Amino acid sequence: MSNSDSQSDKENISSNEVSAQTQVAIERQKKVWNRRVSTWEHHGVLGLEKVINAVLDLSQVQAGMQVLDIGCGTGTLALPMAKSGALVTAIDVSPAMIDRLMSVAREQGISGIKGIAAPAETLNIEAKSIDIIVSNYALHHLRDSDKEKLVKTMFDWLKPGGKVVIGDMMVGRGGTSRDREIIASKISIMLKKGPAGWWRILKNAMRYFFRVQERPISMEAWTKLFESNGYVEVAANTVINEAATIMAKRPI
Ligand SMILES: C[S@@+](CC[C@H](N)C(=O)[O-])C[C@H]1O[C@@H](n2cnc3c(N)ncnc32)[C@H](O)[C@@H]1O
Repeated sequence: MSNSDSQSDKENISSNEVSAQTQVAIERQKKVWNRRVSTWEHHGVLGLEKVINAVLDLSQVQAGMQVLDIGCGTGTLALPMAKSGALVTAIDVSPAMIDRLMSVAREQGISGIKGIAAPAETLNIEAKSIDIIVSNYALHHLRDSDKEKLVKTMFDWLKPGGKVVIGDMMVGRGGTSRDREIIASKISIMLKKGPAGWWRILKNAMRYFFRVQERPISMEAWTKLFESNGYVEVAANTVINEAATIMAKRPI
């Protein structure tokens, strides 16, 4: 049985239709991540400690705050935030991720997390109800048009003065010197690994070129999206390599 609450799941899922391409992208993410719960929890998150800490530091969450974690996975942000007394709505496209998050929360005696299995693209949240929206390494999976829609709707969900803090891979397709440095350094690391590395270069290049599963955009592109949608105090910073954070506030 799923750990998410199916009645409230329905309340939080918009009945607005999404495009056929978005529906395909959602189904793909759901399938991929339902299979990756254990590998993600035990291996995937290991390299993300710095960016997770950066998001937690920037969030400055306090007890009683309403937090929304988008693409929460097994709870790298949701669990510590709920532990410090925040009321966290944790959403993920993968029901298996939500199940795992909720059983860890139960095992650790952490209350204050509401897990919802839903794609970010169809999420429905009450206007002006959230103090902080966080997301770590999830939004690069969204299609670019869906990133833009989400930036617009997150503005409505935030209370005036509330903020968004995102940690993610932020790299464009070679348009900036930072992009080119990141791409060159990845290629150089993989080349040193011999044939296995060459295969990964090819695989990543195809994935990147066709933007099938990973669709990162640059820090500059994120900044522009937030600034052009009314947010203030928009600040993007590199954490390490392609990992970066962006923070933006809804004006008071
Ligand atoms: C790389 S994992 C990161 C998980 C977690 N935030 C962390 O820091 O460990 C990406 C997560 O995003 C979720 N995801 C991917 N596409 C999504 C979408 N369209 N809506 C909601 N969640 C999504 C996946 O199911 C997965 O749990």
